[in-house]
Amino acid sequence: MSVIQEIPIASPIGRDTPRVDGPLKVTGKAQYTSDFHFPGMLYAVPVEATIANGRVRELDTTAAEKMPGVRAIFHRENIGRIFRSVMEPGMEGICEERRPAFADDVVRYYGQYVALAVADTFETAKAAADAVRATYAKEKPNVETELEADDDPEVIPATFGPHERLQSQRGNPDAAFASALVKIDRTYVTPAETHNPIELHATTAIWDGSTLTLYDSTQGVVNLRSVLAQMFGLPKENVRVITKFVGSGFGGKLFPWTHCALVAAAARQLGKPVKLVLSRKMMFQTVGHRPRTQQRVRLGSTPDGKLVSLQHDYVYHRSMLDGHHEDCGETTPFQYSVPNLRVAFGRAKRNVGAGADMRGPGAVPGLYATESAMNELADELKIDPVRLRVINEPKIDEGLGIPFSSRHMLECLELGVEKFDWSKRTPQVASMKRDGLILGWGMAGCSWIAGRFATEANVELRDDGTTRVACATQDIGTGTYTNLAQLASEKTGVPLDKVEVALGDSSFPKGPLSGGSLATSSLVPAVFQAADNAIASLLVTATTTPGSPFENRKPDEVGFEGGRVFIKADRASGGVPFADLLRRANLRLVTGSGKSEATFGNPEPKFSTHSFGCHFVEVTWQPEIARLRVSRVVTVIDAGRILNPLAGRNQIEGAVVMGIGMALFEHTSYDPQNGAPINSNLADYVVAVNADAPPIEVHFLDFPDKEINEVGARGIGEIGLAGVAAAITAAVHHATGVRVRELPVKLADLLG
Ligand code: MOS
Repeated sequence: MSVIQEIPIASPIGRDTPRVDGPLKVTGKAQYTSDFHFPGMLYAVPVEATIANGRVRELDTTAAEKMPGVRAIFHRENIGRIFRSVMEPGMEGICEERRPAFADDVVRYYGQYVALAVADTFETAKAAADAVRATYAKEKPNVETELEADDDPEVIPATFGPHERLQSQRGNPDAAFASALVKIDRTYVTPAETHNPIELHATTAIWDGSTLTLYDSTQGVVNLRSVLAQMFGLPKENVRVITKFVGSGFGGKLFPWTHCALVAAAARQLGKPVKLVLSRKMMFQTVGHRPRTQQRVRLGSTPDGKLVSLQHDYVYHRSMLDGHHEDCGETTPFQYSVPNLRVAFGRAKRNVGAGADMRGPGAVPGLYATESAMNELADELKIDPVRLRVINEPKIDEGLGIPFSSRHMLECLELGVEKFDWSKRTPQVASMKRDGLILGWGMAGCSWIAGRFATEANVELRDDGTTRVACATQDIGTGTYTNLAQLASEKTGVPLDKVEVALGDSSFPKGPLSGGSLATSSLVPAVFQAADNAIASLLVTATTTPGSPFENRKPDEVGFEGGRVFIKADRASGGVPFADLLRRANLRLVTGSGKSEATFGNPEPKFSTHSFGCHFVEVTWQPEIARLRVSRVVTVIDAGRILNPLAGRNQIEGAVVMGIGMALFEHTSYDPQNGAPINSNLADYVVAVNADAPPIEVHFLDFPDKEINEVGARGIGEIGLAGVAAAITAAVHHATGVRVRELPVKLADLLG
């Protein structure tokens, strides 16, 4: 009797996998956008408006133009034609600030580009930009921080289409609130925050006749291609966008900004490659920010904690031009069970640069408000905040009236309570102490969208035993190179170090934005189908090639597993490696294409697809020296199957650290005199750094969500940030007795 020898194939899915691009990064071989150099390349530096409201009266470029090494000073009169762009189907043509740079002489925010100096060296270009003299007709800028909704129509146009300002409604929230026995009516404020990836935005444009190649630090090569093709009136195939490595983006690099077309226009005029790297100061002015929000939350409940009414009314600031919608109410209709609810929003125009998606857009400021209100209600009711959430756990998405694809919020809370040792919490303010420090314990829940963007991918099996997976997506540092390698390896049986991952090039099969935490879940079906099709092609070859060991077998008699082709009835033989079959057939490769259908934006979903989680936070407080520290965090995330827990934990840890920054440090301040972001550098715009990071425990529940894809993987890029600030401010209240409702928490708030 023969024993069938199963060769154990270790699936790379769900395994701690070090980044496949790690060695390139740590050896400095990874090329970020500004690392690319081209013969004859010129350098561009923009001239930034020094007013935030008014008109350019005169631009004196004479001195700048005379400087040795200066090639041109571009402005409205000589930049050439730049068209507008519109949104296209399939998540293309998206951009927040549609007005092409230099389109008129109106200045609407501080730092808006009014001219562009191009020179042989960066230093000369900078000196020339500084030498341009602009005079303005100046008006007082409006950067008022108190937000009152403008008189907008009930349906407003936004970047992704129209939005009803009455976002969600059920029951009779006013009457239910009026008659509720316990109520909370609070307003929470989150400041403007600025994306500060370490890699500055960079663009290099190269023209070859009517073909434009753009090296750009983007989170979406396909979208950037479509916007640029429109702005230069070109067919898409004449535009190629390359983004091999991105030094993070946080949403600031999701969509193109005005400098991208400006650089391409300058390169067109000069017939040379032109590079532009933004300064850190410009990063605060022209490439988006998380808008300031002011959110009123009203909760009504029974004395035993059952919600009877929830109202969430929010206003956010926006620029004079952009269509960014800061959807603070995204999670509100479904996070808790409540029969009477209303979510509505307004917007307030200010002389600031365009708002933009920033890690967990909408939901992150939104959950800060609603989760803080839940914590305040729990204190009012003298109910444990975890218990209050358990009491109000919904069975379905009550906003849409459809089931959740997979929601394990209660398990998240249960595990969080256990791992944090939450049952030891005593609710009285300042009642817990350790080593002479006052402890504060707080918690909050969170959620974030899940789904898929339309995605295509290609997989090749090659005669040297390697495989190549290609997709026009990009890795913004989150681990997409590694995820793609894992998916291709899983299907082809090729070990990770023999998988070539080709991404970051718009000429590859159309891939997803690195946005919305949707890239990974979008890639799964496309890559799996592509691999299946490549394998099917291999099996045809194996059964039809003269001299093949499988010649004249029917295709369904042969199988493929672990990189080998075998006769199904004779698994014991071990089969033949695919590379051997390809070599015998004199084939370098077989190839297959695959596709994922989009679910994001589906107007009639069957399931509500979200990830869920919770954070438990400990702070220490020393009133004698006014020292507040976040000392411990336990985070539990229900994000479906985790493809790479090593990178996944890292992703959540990073988000929690960002949440500490959000709660305690980050805010962009605008000068009421000239409208400039005042703290536009990394010394004055304080982000959480290593020394602020406490021990962070991350737990994943790992319930596969098969509605999303066959692996069951949702996304994890953003959810780790949602809720952190509410948990921290709750812990701060527990330690100090001070309820901070305007972020960030300032020591002055705590000193009373
Ligand atoms: Mo994220 S804000 O969708 O890059």
